[in-house]
Amino acid sequence: MNILFFSTQPYDVTYFNQANTDNAHHFRFLEYPLNEDNTALIKDETAVCVFVNDKVNASVIRQLKEKSIRLIALRCAGFNNVDLKAAEEAGIRVVRVPAYSPHAVAEHAVTLLLALNRKIYKSYNRVRDNNFTLGGLEGFDVYGKTVGVIGTGNIGAVFCRIMLGFGCKVLAHDVYKNEALMKAGVTYVSPETIMAESDIISLHCPLTPDTKHLIDAHTISQMKRGVVLINTSRGGLIDTRSVVEALKNGHIGALGIDVYEQEEQLFFQNFSGTIIQDDVLSRLTTFPNVLVTAHQGFFTREALTQIAETTLANINAFEKNEPLKNAL
Ligand code: NAI
Repeated sequence: MNILFFSTQPYDVTYFNQANTDNAHHFRFLEYPLNEDNTALIKDETAVCVFVNDKVNASVIRQLKEKSIRLIALRCAGFNNVDLKAAEEAGIRVVRVPAYSPHAVAEHAVTLLLALNRKIYKSYNRVRDNNFTLGGLEGFDVYGKTVGVIGTGNIGAVFCRIMLGFGCKVLAHDVYKNEALMKAGVTYVSPETIMAESDIISLHCPLTPDTKHLIDAHTISQMKRGVVLINTSRGGLIDTRSVVEALKNGHIGALGIDVYEQEEQLFFQNFSGTIIQDDVLSRLTTFPNVLVTAHQGFFTREALTQIAETTLANINAFEKNEPLKNAL
């Protein structure tokens, strides 16, 4: 099948070519994102392969239909950027990669937590500057702390187990309870209890109309003073302006994010020679207790291999008219 890739990064080319072992498919890789302007770049492809920040709204989908696209293959798990109803109306199937190394993202959430707590980014720079002092690097024992986890699907469940391994008390909230996690020691509670009792809160639920701005001025006011907030899920779960206020007044003790509400303007691109116009992100990066990574949670060898293999398996199934187990 002829497949057009949008928002391609060099590692996509490497891993997708590797997975296309018998050269069954013909790929064209574009660095441009998919949006209303760029559908013109489609030539004779049957499928488009897109990532988290490609804009697959109703108007783009209308254009895809005009270009005879029959399949949208997401090379990611989240699908909040796709208008599924419009795709159904257009008769275009949508497939995704529902799970690819949940360990990659869960481990990244833990990385953010530990790096923030022990100020690794500061000590790295200090030692390189021959400054061997410890002032300001004080952290806390993660052992014994209460960790609140919102969303215990693939990634949240792995995160819960890691935190249990640290000797934490793990509280969780999800619309479904995971029995195996409960047996392992996780206690399901209301979101209010998570906010009120957690020393550390980590978000692992998808972005939906229900979860948009789950963390806002109101929920922050319910949290313990000094709480550490980690978000590796989707930026829209957090009302960033409220979080900035809470960082300024010390209510939030530290923030680690791998996702940001306005990330599609910035992430996966190099702006090191330009002035960033996003004042909220610029403010965030001035705080000494904020760590921002640019949506790299998924970025491990294992996850990239699985993403490419599952995406091609989805495309193969579509081509052979087989049931699409990863259809949306
Ligand atoms: P999943 O679908 O396995 O789990 C999501 C869980 O959230 C489900 O158990 C679901 O019941 C729960 N949930 C839904 N609505 C909820 C609500 N209102 N309150 C509490 N829980 C709710 O998804 P998975 O694979 O664990 O991924 C979680 C999120 O992580 C994805 O939606 C995606 O946005 C993000 N992600 C981030 C990556 C990164 O590189 N930073 C990579 C992959 C995923």
